[in-house]
This record gives sequence, structure tokens and C-alpha cells, in this order.
Amino acid sequence: YTAELDLSDIGKGTYPYYMLKEIDEQPSVMRKLVSTYTDQEGKVTVATDIVKAVQAADRIYIIAAGTSLHAGYASKQILEELTNTPVELGLASEWGYGMPLLSEKPLFIFLSQSGETADSRQVLVKVNELGHPSLTVTNVPGSTLSREATYTMLIGAGPEISVASTKAYTGQIATLAFLAKAVGDADQNPKALDFDLVKEISLVAQSIESTLSEKEMISDLVAKLLPEARNAFYIGRKQDYFVSMEASLKLKEISYIQCEGFAAGELKHGTISLIENGTPVIALISNNEEVAAHTRGNVMETVARGASAITIVEEAVAREDDDIVINNVHPYLSAISMVVPTQLIAYYATVQRGLDVDKPRNLAKAVTVE
Ligand code: G6P
Repeated sequence: YTAELDLSDIGKGTYPYYMLKEIDEQPSVMRKLVSTYTDQEGKVTVATDIVKAVQAADRIYIIAAGTSLHAGYASKQILEELTNTPVELGLASEWGYGMPLLSEKPLFIFLSQSGETADSRQVLVKVNELGHPSLTVTNVPGSTLSREATYTMLIGAGPEISVASTKAYTGQIATLAFLAKAVGDADQNPKALDFDLVKEISLVAQSIESTLSEKEMISDLVAKLLPEARNAFYIGRKQDYFVSMEASLKLKEISYIQCEGFAAGELKHGTISLIENGTPVIALISNNEEVAAHTRGNVMETVARGASAITIVEEAVAREDDDIVINNVHPYLSAISMVVPTQLIAYYATVQRGLDVDKPRNLAKAVTVE
């Protein structure tokens, strides 16, 4: 098999690093997904056998590693609400040792940018032995996980060269949103029928574009706080918590700043003891007034202990002194737009520390050993 590559996708062009190019490509990845997963009338369409496989399942198990696992967490809510099916997340490297007690009619979704992650594959081998259906959501057509699973959905984000994954994360969440919507529509689920995914994804693309136009401001903000930092925290609640996990992974991977993504309410149960004078705490606050008020309370708790806070906030709940304000998007999709400023934070922190953004030490793009 030869993977089909669009040659215009290869090469950095005028970009200093692939990562920045790939961050910038995200609005077009969103728009391309709309054309991939809609028909001529603009109706969301996903292959009928895949929709039926989800309808037949009594539980969805999402298996993945690294950034892809975080995309799975960010997709749990929309999948559960639109398909009415519980979703459980599984860390591929752990599930390889054996499955937990499974439901009667499980559907396994393997999320993998490369489609080659050995940890995920060892779970798929077991799933196939057990005879359960599986769907691989991947960026690489013809990849191992795609060939060995029952079904495949492609992200179509174009080659992702930088080791730190960006457009594949946002592309995975969007792809699963199309799946959730297609199943919800087929079920006549009122929540799905009321949710105009095509419109909402285009708002997400616009929100990303608006964040991308703030690069200089974000770079300046990073310069004030991060290059000298030994450690940092991302905090958030609900969807923002899931994004915190991804945001902190991104910062760790490439800038080597020790960072934890934390559920904001959990900080007080231990981790807040790590806050010192000047510890950067980056809070993610999307548009939910109750959650926003609680997270802001947690930010104040850390500031009272010396933290230097940065807030990344959706417009509807923003205040004048917030650092980065992003356009509102539908709550189902907020992880996609919320992660973009955190990708830029990781990028600029790494550049400012004089490190190679695309090739962090000790890491590989696809890990084919268990
Ligand atoms: C490697 C990469 C990560 C990636 C993970 C899962 O560790 O460095 O960026 O998230 O593998 O990769 P996958 O291709 O399965 O999404």
C-alpha cells in the first residue's frame, strides 16, 4: 500500500516549524471535514454501516494514547448526548493487559493520528479475537489500525509532521462530532436534530482564525511568564479540564516545562501545595456561567498563594482583565477552539527557550513499540 500524499502538503514553506504551519491549517481542516462528511444538500452523512454499528452498540469504548486519548475525552459528551450511548475511555497501554468487564454489545473506537500506535494495536488484536466491532478514526488511510479494524473514518487533516500533534487532535474531535450527529439524526434524537453541526463547525473555524490573528499578543504573554518557569499548571472544569490535559501535554512535550492539567476543583485537595511565587497557572474558561464562576474562584485561590495566572476565556463569560478571549462556539465543540491558544503557548514557550519545536528529545511521531 502507498499512502496518498498531496505534495502541496509537504514542506514548511515560509514557516519556521511544521507545528506552526499545522496549527494554522486547522480552520481549513475543519472546512474540509464539512465537505467530507456532508452530502450535496449539506446534510451530515457518515457511511451507513458505521452509523448502524453505533446504533447497535450499548457502549462505546474509545481506545487511544497521548493526544488522541485527550481528543477522546473531549468527544465523550457529544457522543453520549447525540447517540444516547455511554462512552468509556481506555488508555491503550493499560488495556493491552486485558479488558475490564465489557458491556454486552461494545463498539470499540480506536483514535490514532498515525494508525500505527502499537499500544492501541495490541488492544485491537484482543478486540478482534473477541469478535467485537471496531472503528478506527485516523489521519492515515491504509494504516495498520485502519486495515485491522472493521470500519474506518478518516480525519483528512493532511500529513502531520511535527511530533507534537495539533491539527489531528482538533480533526479527531470534529470527525467524532460528525459521527455523533449522523447517528443522532438517524435516531431522530431531538438533541441531534436541533444541533446544526455544519454551522457550528464553521463558527469554530472562524473562532480559530480569530485566535490565530492574536499570535503576537500570545507570544508576548508567554515571554513574560513561561521561558523561565520550572513548572506550570493548566486548570479547567468539565470540557475545559479535558483541554487542560492536552494543553499541559503539549507544553511538556516540546518546552520541557513540567506541567499538569488539573480539574480546577481538585487543586485544593493536594496539588495547590505546589503553587509558589510566580508559578504560572493557566485557566481555561469556556461559556458556562456556573463553571466559569467556579474556575475563577480557583484562579483566585492560586493567585492568593503567589501564582501568576493567565486566563483563556470565551467571550460570553469574559471580563476586561482576561488575557486571551476567544469567540464563543457551541459547548459540544469548545475543546476545538479552546485548545488553539494553548498550542500557541506551547509553541512560543519552546521557541523562546531556543528548542527545536518539531523534534523534541526522546519522542517519536508514531510509537510502534509497546
Ligand atoms: C506518540 C506521539 C503523540 C501521540 C501518540 C499517539 O507518543 O508523540 O503525539 O499523541 O503517539 O499517537 P497516535 O498516532 O496513535 O495518535
